[in-house]
Amino acid sequence: MDIKRIILLSFSMVLILGIVESFEYDAKELESEEGWQGMYERWRNHHNVQEVSEDEKVARLSVFKTNVQHVHNTNNMNKAYKLKVNKFATMTNHEFRNTYAASNIKHYRKLRGPRKESFMYENVACVPPTVDWRSHNVVTPAKDQANCGACWAFSTVVAVEGINAIKTGELVSLSEQHLIDCDTVLNEGCDGGLMEPAFIFLQLNGGLTTEQNYPYIAQNGTCDPEKVRNQAVTIDGFEDVPECNEDALLKAVANQPVSAAIDANGHDFQFYSSGVFTGKCGTDVNHAVAVVGYGETQEGMKYWIVKNSWGPLWGEDGFVRLQRGVPDPLGLCGIAVEPSYPIKNSNNPINHEL
Ligand SMILES: *[C@@H]1O[C@H](CO)[C@@H](O)[C@H](O)[C@H]1NC(C)=O
Repeated sequence: MDIKRIILLSFSMVLILGIVESFEYDAKELESEEGWQGMYERWRNHHNVQEVSEDEKVARLSVFKTNVQHVHNTNNMNKAYKLKVNKFATMTNHEFRNTYAASNIKHYRKLRGPRKESFMYENVACVPPTVDWRSHNVVTPAKDQANCGACWAFSTVVAVEGINAIKTGELVSLSEQHLIDCDTVLNEGCDGGLMEPAFIFLQLNGGLTTEQNYPYIAQNGTCDPEKVRNQAVTIDGFEDVPECNEDALLKAVANQPVSAAIDANGHDFQFYSSGVFTGKCGTDVNHAVAVVGYGETQEGMKYWIVKNSWGPLWGEDGFVRLQRGVPDPLGLCGIAVEPSYPIKNSNNPINHEL
């Protein structure tokens, strides 16, 4: 069994068993070979990693050591954020990038053409000092894309779930698989995609069905006409937030959750646990997420609240607070490069089969 399948297997086990605890370790374990061995075994049990050959086990232990040491050293460095030993602990940063931060957003941006200029929140004069859409019941718990590069579908769904809950007062978990299987003109399922074409697809094809009706399988599937007939939520179009403009992004996020893209391939980002992420990352965006709020710490550090799709055990229950208001107009990790959001004016269809 190759490593990709082992990783996939361990993720499906995580999904099935619904692991809820974070993995903890004692600093003493880093000081001896027995300590490392014991910690590695505990980690493997924690994540139900099975059937690894002896050679593979030795190789993975070496990666594990490097990663745990990195987490440990970083946490001793008085940064605004902490790292943790999570499910990515036996992936090299290179493997991690190729699996989780490899959506070629630049490519899809070229295909998509120029961005829209109309911005309905342009004249928003004042915004609240903090907004957290999670506390308004318009954000579902963090989902897990697993070993499928459909971050674009997850990002799209967060924004649609959000505007739907704001407009109707009802939070409904919607289907990523519907987009992966059916929105295939420009978007490419588990191989990557972008949110704006997905919004157009939803506008033109009668909307999105529920997660329950069309569940996630973490791989490309065939568009199911029966399931797709039961649309739950419609949208009426989308707009782009003016790019490289955190003030414009603030106005938009004050009004609804917003889809965005980031550079997610940093070693610290791989193991982010809590706090305001101020770590190293580029602005060549490669992963889609959604901005669901913003705030400021007591120490005066401003942040965006970003929903990710790597499951609830990554970061703060699956979310990351990303530093806001950096000198670079592209924003930290490029958060201001590619934001967009759906428009919803009309009512949802009445659907008795859902
Ligand atoms: C997944 O589907 C997309 C869109 O139909 C396609 O472009 C891509 O090659 C498929 N990927 C795999 C691994 O089958």
